[in-house]
Amino acid sequence: MTYDFDKDGFMIVDGFLPRAMVDTISRYFQMKKRMGDFNSSGSPGFIPGAQTWYGDCLTEALLITMHPAIEEFTNKKLYPAYSFCRNYLRYQKLPVHTDRPSCEVSLTMCLGGTYDSDDFVWPICIEHPPEHVKHFQKPGDMIVYKGTEMKHWRPRLLHGENHLQMHLHYVDVESSWAEDLKFDARTSLGIPEVAGDGHEEVKLKWAEFMGWGYNAGIVNDKGTDWTDEDTKSLDDYIPDNPGLPDLEMVARFGPADDVEEYRTKLQNYGSTI
Ligand SMILES: [Fe+2]
Repeated sequence: MTYDFDKDGFMIVDGFLPRAMVDTISRYFQMKKRMGDFNSSGSPGFIPGAQTWYGDCLTEALLITMHPAIEEFTNKKLYPAYSFCRNYLRYQKLPVHTDRPSCEVSLTMCLGGTYDSDDFVWPICIEHPPEHVKHFQKPGDMIVYKGTEMKHWRPRLLHGENHLQMHLHYVDVESSWAEDLKFDARTSLGIPEVAGDGHEEVKLKWAEFMGWGYNAGIVNDKGTDWTDEDTKSLDDYIPDNPGLPDLEMVARFGPADDVEEYRTKLQNYGSTI
């Protein structure tokens, strides 16, 4: 089934980027990850422990390259806002939420990951009343969606070590916030998220105006289709998974002697998983 951006609020575009390019982007971020080169806290209360890159030059370049195509898909004139890449780790999930105003027109593209089996595909879910759509994305597949309107989420990543996802965001030039949020209130693309010189206030103003939190409008912490497996607490998994304090946890929290210590650190960090 195909979906219409205007009518349904989203559309699915599979295989948009050539696999060779997707693999190149993925390898690039894997290398950055190995170097511990992250430039964003990535909303620690939103997905605790996820590794994120805001406005990386590679994804900012893609934000520009894909700009004409996204305008064509959506039949709108758009300003680029910002790009973002997130590396999800095992047991993480994406709460049901809508995006902040800079994400008025958004795309989310799978860059692949390391999974427990070759046939595992981690779905992204998006509302499509009266139900919702689960998109089982393979590398290069994407959803283009109305970020400020459409609730979207992911179940818990139970069957993979990590999953890399790229997000590109645009604002409609017709929007009342377009001039404020062009380039996500930065002076240009390709520079880090700006704080402290008025730009944060601009973003906050629009987020509050729209009635959302700064980072995203979190609707609730449970999707509409969680299975029992999805909703188990992390405690249900840790005892059988001594591998949890992996390199990512070490990188974030430093070395620890046992699983219990990492659990405490996760909880102190504000994790709700
Ligand atoms: Fe989102």
